[in-house]
Amino acid sequence: MCGIIGVLGKSEASPTIVETLRRLEYRGYDSAGIATLHNGEMHRRRAVGKLSELENVLAANPVEGLIGIGHTRWATHGAANETNAHPHKAGPVAVVHNGIIENFARLRDELVANGIVFETETDTEVVAQLCAYLMADGMSPVDAAGATIARLEGAFALAFMFEGEDDLLIAARRGSPLAIGHGDGEMFIGSDAMALGPMTNRITYLEEGDWAVLTRQNVTIYDALGNRANRELQLVNVDAVRVDKGNYRHFMAKEIHEQPSVMAVALSHYLTQDRENVQPPVSLDFSSYDRLVIVACGTAYLAANVAKYWFEQIARLPVEIDIASEFRYREPPLNGREGMIVISQSGETADTLAALKYATGKAARTLAIVNTPASSMEREADDTLQILAGPEIAVASTKAFTCQLSVLASLAILAARQRGVIDNTQEIALVQTLMSAPRLVSDAIAAENAIEAASRDLAKATDILFLGRGSLFPLALEGALKLKELSYIHAEGYPSGELKHGPIALIDDQVPVIVFAPSGDLFDKTVSNMEEVMARGGKILLVTDEKGAAEVSKGVWKTIIMPECDPLVAPMVYAIPAQLIAYHTAVEKGTDVDQPRNLAKSVTVE
Ligand code: AGP
Repeated sequence: MCGIIGVLGKSEASPTIVETLRRLEYRGYDSAGIATLHNGEMHRRRAVGKLSELENVLAANPVEGLIGIGHTRWATHGAANETNAHPHKAGPVAVVHNGIIENFARLRDELVANGIVFETETDTEVVAQLCAYLMADGMSPVDAAGATIARLEGAFALAFMFEGEDDLLIAARRGSPLAIGHGDGEMFIGSDAMALGPMTNRITYLEEGDWAVLTRQNVTIYDALGNRANRELQLVNVDAVRVDKGNYRHFMAKEIHEQPSVMAVALSHYLTQDRENVQPPVSLDFSSYDRLVIVACGTAYLAANVAKYWFEQIARLPVEIDIASEFRYREPPLNGREGMIVISQSGETADTLAALKYATGKAARTLAIVNTPASSMEREADDTLQILAGPEIAVASTKAFTCQLSVLASLAILAARQRGVIDNTQEIALVQTLMSAPRLVSDAIAAENAIEAASRDLAKATDILFLGRGSLFPLALEGALKLKELSYIHAEGYPSGELKHGPIALIDDQVPVIVFAPSGDLFDKTVSNMEEVMARGGKILLVTDEKGAAEVSKGVWKTIIMPECDPLVAPMVYAIPAQLIAYHTAVEKGTDVDQPRNLAKSVTVE
């Protein structure tokens, strides 16, 4: 996901832009750039790679000026190179952009037919060229920008700057969030409030379709219909001190270790004071639904997979789950008797937002479970629940996953009560079990040294399988996803019982098989699956509890011991080895743990 910054300042803009771009690094990027105005002239510097590359360029060739725009680019259209890096410039116009201009080809053809020569492969250049073309045709910068924005189709956040206009920036939001920061005689634009934290906590969030004209003294906002709009100026509690790693080597390590505390915070917001009953911060009613439809991407989708077991087993409520990028294109029939839930850490994932929009007006009600305030999904959904995990900086989702599970488990218990499936005594018992999750997750983290030791061997593998049964099958998928996205080792997750239907052909002594199997009802069946693997020379890394280890210690390659736990909270507990195996294997392999290659923290393009 790209990052946008705009500064209308009283001091040199360049250092402020670079500092705020650094606060947007967590979004993932492959190039960065800056443009400033000085004495009416525009100066632009861009670099491929990390922000430090841009800083090297600026050290060798600094830019001056009190006004500027900056950008971190995650490539969508066009390779990750300097030519395609933002800001893009055409005539007197410079633009930075997050998102996708879906009609860029048509606009480009129109401009080329009028003699315009393009320099880049990007969709963004069309915005600068169209605005410059309209200015050359006599429009003022503001009118040309407004007319340009009106021609665009797609999801985007934009910031414009104009040569000769050293007290003007223009911002636009459609499908990608954009915040305006109000300083003292200064004005700022940022992709999120956290980026603007060091300069101001006085924030106005643009609404869907808004565009804004900024000077140092004021902001004029227009809505999608071109009417003047008033948007609330909020005091956003963004910690002005950088979100930092503390004494951890990576943000991911910090966020893994934060899970016991943030899960406890999340649960406390979803339970009554006496910790006996579920009471979400928003009034919800599951009693009238025939079914739930839960849609998400990536790790959030795997949280949905776990939730299916809980809603169906505890509340007897049928659940259909789907990957967001598939959902709306299969045109699922929604008859107004289902509840639609989307799960998204960022609240901005384009595929999930599109699924939510598809269901709006069709499903009985829509609920967004997110971890980010003022997100696009919050604006779109009938109801929104925050998972209260705090800012998750590492691209790999960890604490958001276990907080999503904490909230989903509490909702499953609520649904069971509302549907008359459980009585108050049973609810109290389930809530007490759920309340044990943070402590058990803390106990699971205590296995980190054993996991780190095992990961040194796992790092030598080129293919790894993960197995799990029941509500731990999604954890096998999550373990594989985490390992792939962090260590770049190919991994797949399977239901333990599925191995013999084909994947067992993959097994030899070069393919470690990681099995998530707490002792209990399904354990014996999983043991027989493990024996099928070991009989073919496969190496089993068994993640289980003391009881399980005692039953099957022989022949297993390695064993990681988890705390014994109730099946209800096993998915939260076994999320820890899934995360730590991926983390330590990645550290062993030397990959970029917090910002793995090719990945973005939130994918705001389809
Ligand atoms: C998770 O580790 C990945 N980074 C990715 O799969 C992520 O879960 C997915 O992109 C969904 O993001 P969201 O929760 O912000 O919608």
